Amino acid sequence: MNIGVLKETKSLEKRVAIIPSTVKDLTEKGYSFFVEKDAGHSSHYADQSFVDAGAKIVERNEVFGCDIVVKVNTPTEDEIGLLNSNSLLISLFQTIKDIDLVKKLKDKQLSAFSLNLLPRTTLAQKMDILSSQANIAGYKAVLIGADHIEKYMPLLMTAAGTISPAKTLVIGAGVAGLQAIATAKRLGAQVEAFDVRPEVKEQVESLGAKFVEVESDGDDGVGSGGYAKETSEEYKKRQQELMQDRISKSDLVITTALIPNRPAPVLIPTNMVNLMKSGSVIMDLAAENGGNCELTKPDELVNHNGVLIDGNTNLPSTMATHASQLFSKNVQAIIEHCHGEEGFKLDKEDEIIDGMLFIEKGEIRHEPTKEAL
Ligand code: NAI
Repeated sequence: MNIGVLKETKSLEKRVAIIPSTVKDLTEKGYSFFVEKDAGHSSHYADQSFVDAGAKIVERNEVFGCDIVVKVNTPTEDEIGLLNSNSLLISLFQTIKDIDLVKKLKDKQLSAFSLNLLPRTTLAQKMDILSSQANIAGYKAVLIGADHIEKYMPLLMTAAGTISPAKTLVIGAGVAGLQAIATAKRLGAQVEAFDVRPEVKEQVESLGAKFVEVESDGDDGVGSGGYAKETSEEYKKRQQELMQDRISKSDLVITTALIPNRPAPVLIPTNMVNLMKSGSVIMDLAAENGGNCELTKPDELVNHNGVLIDGNTNLPSTMATHASQLFSKNVQAIIEHCHGEEGFKLDKEDEIIDGMLFIEKGEIRHEPTKEAL
């Protein structure tokens, strides 16, 4: 079984999907690796380190002929055009958002795993790329945000006077949000957090932050599989009032609120930004899906009356070495999961494989994607 590793082409992308340690481990299990020249260059994994681990460094075209082709980002139209019809493509793929690319896969009768569709079960934890990358995003958002605010994060008592700790508000206490809370606490900030899922209160508090609660009589915000769902209008109104008060007092706001397969909810409209102090900062981690702030522009730094809104859509890439290491380990766990006594096999009875294999030889298997088509 040949595994091809493509060099990423998306602008600002520095990660590589597979690193040498995975090459070494899977080569021992009988896989052969064909890595595009310089694929690991931006994340500091040299071609020679792939060769030392047992891979062959090849030109781009040769990668497309492999049985499995792995990359970080959704493939481009050109890449789909070059894929061999028997190949299995493994990548992050927002199937509904990128429905035109799904059509291309279908036309070419291809098979693909979307790493975004991995079921969130205990067994799948070690394969969970969304979690490993969100963790990095939460950490880095605080570091970049702390750099933007032009203030200290911790409380300081100096001969020149006392400095209050920066007030940090984290909206969405999932994987990224919890890491953001932990990082901001480590830097000494005063941290508050909010989430529509009330069960995260305990996790937020265990990290030493205050949980901001919106009263609700129903099951607002609680979706299936640990994910959020859209909330009622009444809940949204109450949430907005509370957020308005908290946001106007914050130095740093980190938003991570996402709902699978839907545009991100707008939680910070322009009128709320208008209430923020000049010099305060919003790090919008939902920028890729439209953003939690109305003024967010993907991959731009917006200055609105002195309030900075950072819409970086690829924070994991700013820590490309570790992001690639974790990504690679997650993909390795997926390949090992598919590896049985007879080698690599797509057992569709298996919940994890069934979940990720959204298209098989041109047939769409994932219902919401089929509906979107
Ligand atoms: P996500 O990236 O889809 O969402 C981030 C957070 O935003 C979530 O906590 C969500 O509740 C919150 N949110 C959504 N709409 C909101 C709104 N209107 N206002 C405020 N907050 C809002 O979620 P993520 O971080 O990928 O994972 C969510 C949860 O799933 C985790 O906290 C964890 O409990 C669970 N999980 C389980 C895994 C497993 O068992 N394998 C792996 C990863 C996560």
